Amino acid sequence: MRVLLSEQQIQNRIAELADAIEPGYRDLPFTIVGVLTGSLIFVADLVRRLEVPLRIALIQASSYRGKATSAGELHIASEILADVRGRHVLLLDDILDTGQTLKHLVQHLIGQGALSVKICVLLRKQGKQVHAVDIDFVGFEIPDEFVVGYGLDFNDEYRNLPYIGVLPKEMYE
Ligand code: XMP
Repeated sequence: MRVLLSEQQIQNRIAELADAIEPGYRDLPFTIVGVLTGSLIFVADLVRRLEVPLRIALIQASSYRGKATSAGELHIASEILADVRGRHVLLLDDILDTGQTLKHLVQHLIGQGALSVKICVLLRKQGKQVHAVDIDFVGFEIPDEFVVGYGLDFNDEYRNLPYIGVLPKEMYE
């Protein structure tokens, strides 16, 4: 598999992201909300770089894609979400593609009583966003290719790779 981002590149960038995020949350009730399952490893690495008091919460979102061309309906499983009322939330996801998932999750968290919701994504696919959503922190801009590793999956596999690789087209076409 072609390596797009090495383990070292990812770790270096996460340290920079933590430096950028930290000042905005000093002295605030701060909750990181990770989107399952893809953000799991990103959350684990980022929180260990943040030297401010914080809580960790998780939410699950999945889109059921029908025909390849249809947008896909989003299902939010929020039963596991800890109480975010009165908290400043930083939503963490692995990748921003069309923006559908994060747009709906922001609305959901505001509905749950979060005081503010900012977004941090490790990867942003260039030229793919169709839903208007403000992204506050981005790890890497990447080309429109299917990537796996570091939490990202294909058929629920490859999440454990320590790097991010490009899945060869013949594997999914
Ligand atoms: P939207 O379109 O809602 O999609 O921004 C975000 C979700 O789509 C999945 N996704 C990918 N997963 N490699 C993956 O493993 C990719 O290249 C990729 N592109 C999109 C992912 O679940 C993400 O949360």
